[in-house]
Amino acid sequence: MKKMIIAMAAAGLVSFGASAFAGDAEAGKALYNSSSCAGCHGANGEGGVGPKLAGQSADAIKTKLHKYKAGEQVGPMTSMMAPMAAGLSDADIDNLAAFIATLK
Ligand code: HEC
Repeated sequence: MKKMIIAMAAAGLVSFGASAFAGDAEAGKALYNSSSCAGCHGANGEGGVGPKLAGQSADAIKTKLHKYKAGEQVGPMTSMMAPMAAGLSDADIDNLAAFIATLK
């Protein structure tokens, strides 16, 4: 019985965690526009100085932003993008990814 209660509590935590990880697209949109992402990637992620972001999955965006933040080389112009990601929190990245995934 005790085990079952622990299992249920764990399951509850897991589902809460999953929804927290999904990111808030509205908050992501506000951040995207206020932290100059739009200046290089376009208001609709269509690309500009930086590559096109529209059409990419939230997971793909998240993975790349975490790499830039960690100082890993992603593409030939990583040195331009890395400082942009350096100041983002994990929650910022989740929110930005949720928003960018809505861009077509
Ligand atoms: C000064 C211009 C500039 C700004 C501002 C900027 N980026 Fe970038 N971004 C780039 C460039 C250039 C690249 C390509 C870097 C490379 O070669 O790895 C890039 C790459 C990316 C990538 C990977 C794209 C891919 O398909 O490989 C993502 C995701 C991204 N930026 C998101 C953002 C977000 C979110 C913001 C705002 C917090 C932002 N960028 C702000 C210039 C910029």
